[in-house]
Formats: sequence, C-alpha cells, structure tokens
Amino acid sequence: MRTTIHQLKDMKRRGERIGMITAYDYTSARIVDEVGFPAILVGDSMSQVMLGYEDTVPLTLDESIHHTRAVVRGTARAHIVADMPFLTYNAGWPEAVHNAGRYLKEAGAQSVKVEGGVHMVSTIRKLISAGIPVMGHIGLTPQSVNQLGGYKVQGKSPLEAQRLLTDALALQEAGVYSIVLELVPAEVAREITARVDVPTIGIGGGPHCDGQIQVLHDVLGLFEVFIPKHTRRYANMADDMRTALGSYFSDIKDGSFPGDAESHHVSEDVVAAMRGDARQGDEGPGDEAPE
Ligand code: KIV
Repeated sequence: MRTTIHQLKDMKRRGERIGMITAYDYTSARIVDEVGFPAILVGDSMSQVMLGYEDTVPLTLDESIHHTRAVVRGTARAHIVADMPFLTYNAGWPEAVHNAGRYLKEAGAQSVKVEGGVHMVSTIRKLISAGIPVMGHIGLTPQSVNQLGGYKVQGKSPLEAQRLLTDALALQEAGVYSIVLELVPAEVAREITARVDVPTIGIGGGPHCDGQIQVLHDVLGLFEVFIPKHTRRYANMADDMRTALGSYFSDIKDGSFPGDAESHHVSEDVVAAMRGDARQGDEGPGDEAPE
C-alpha cells in the first residue's frame, strides 16, 4: 500500500519530518522507494536534468506522463506526485482537470503538484472536487521564471513575505494536502509552517519546514550545469561515471573486455559441426540440380 495524503498530513501532526526527493525513471525510482522515502515527486525539473532543456517551460504533458509511468512502475510504497508542466493547468479548469486526470488514470500517480498561490485557488478547488489530490507550490515558482526575471529568493521584503503567507493560507483553504516552499527565507518558511495545518515541504526554505525535497541529480552530484546553494551533495556520481566509463572504454580498446568471465562457451565439437554445416551450406539450395 502506498503512502496516502492522510499519512503525510499525520506526519506533520506527529512532528515527524517528511523526506522527499525527485525521481524520473524506473531504475532510480526503485532505489528511492527501497530507501523508504514516503513520497516522490516526478518533478518538472526533468526538463533540465533528464531532457536538457534550459528551463521547465518547454516540458510537455506527454513527456512528463511518460516519465511518471516509469516511476510508478519502479515503486510500490511511495506516494507519487506528478508535477504538472507549464500551461497544462493554467489556461482554465476543464483542461487542468483533464490533464491532471491523465496522471492518475494513465500514469498511476496519486496526486499532482501545481505552482501558484491565490490565483490558482479556483482551479485547485476543481481538481480536488474531481478527486485529484493537489500539492501546492509557492515562493520561487520556476515555471514563471520569465515573469520573475530569474531564480531569486522570494519573500524577502515584509510585503512579499505577507503575500506568501496569504498564498499559503489560500492554498490550505482550497484543500491542498501539502505546500512546497521554494527559495524562501528560513524565517518566513518557519512562520508559514506554523500557520498552516498541512505539511510544508522546503527546497531552499530552511530547516523549519515539515519536510524537505531535493532534486535527485543534485543530491547525487550528477547534474553539473548548475548547482543551487540549497543543495547538499551526498555523492559525486558524475565523477564516478567518468571513472567507470573511462575504464570500460579503455578495456574495450586494449582487448581486456570482455574476458572469459563475461563470455559464453560451447565445446569445440559444436564449432567443428558448425564449420561442417557451413561447408554444406556453401553448396546451398541454389546449386541443386532441377528435378
Ligand atoms: O520539479 C521539481 O524538482 C520541483 C521541486 C523544485 C520541488 O518542483
């Protein structure tokens, strides 16, 4: 049985920290699930770290659903949150409900995440009344990077901080089960976390959020194009990959791969018979005299 939104909310009530991470493919999702993360986000950060786009704006619904399916196939216990791409939920609720429904029906996700505060409330209500649980996301909302003018910390002035609190309360009122706080000063995130009953999940939101999320490739040291300040690298897998692949490549070149252990064998009798068959085969049906 997968973690439910109610269990995630209970974790906040019990004061148990919620660990989350992103995943985008079957193999890594299996490992994340085995480690025991209660929830996994199939983030639209796949746009950069999996697909090489410059930001999250170009990601399509079909690309995202394709990766969500793979993550669902690789997991049995984690709650799978599908991150809805830019303009798949912003242009009106009927389209938002239809698109969000595809994640549950076709991909097997348990909930969706959408970016935005007060202005998203009416759409979020429609999603929830259609039976689709929603995780909110405020602070730095990367899909609005062109509007925001870059990846900057949000909520630094009293007015901005107040606006974030208003957004968080509006999302809670609309029925979200959790709220991501991205690139928000720790003090502001602490206040919001204390004021809402649903769990806050921080990314660059300091230590007082109810849970934390990071991008898998950042934690593993796999993505080298940009390393955010809020990331802690627990491995340097890009270097590990270079070393491993360099060894494989040089073993091919010097003939030491594959060796006996990596090869399959038959007896030389089979080879002899094979050569004989090959000689008979040389005569071939084309050489037979017509009847
Ligand atoms: O796509 C993503 O990885 C996210 C996290 C930053 C929360 O939305």
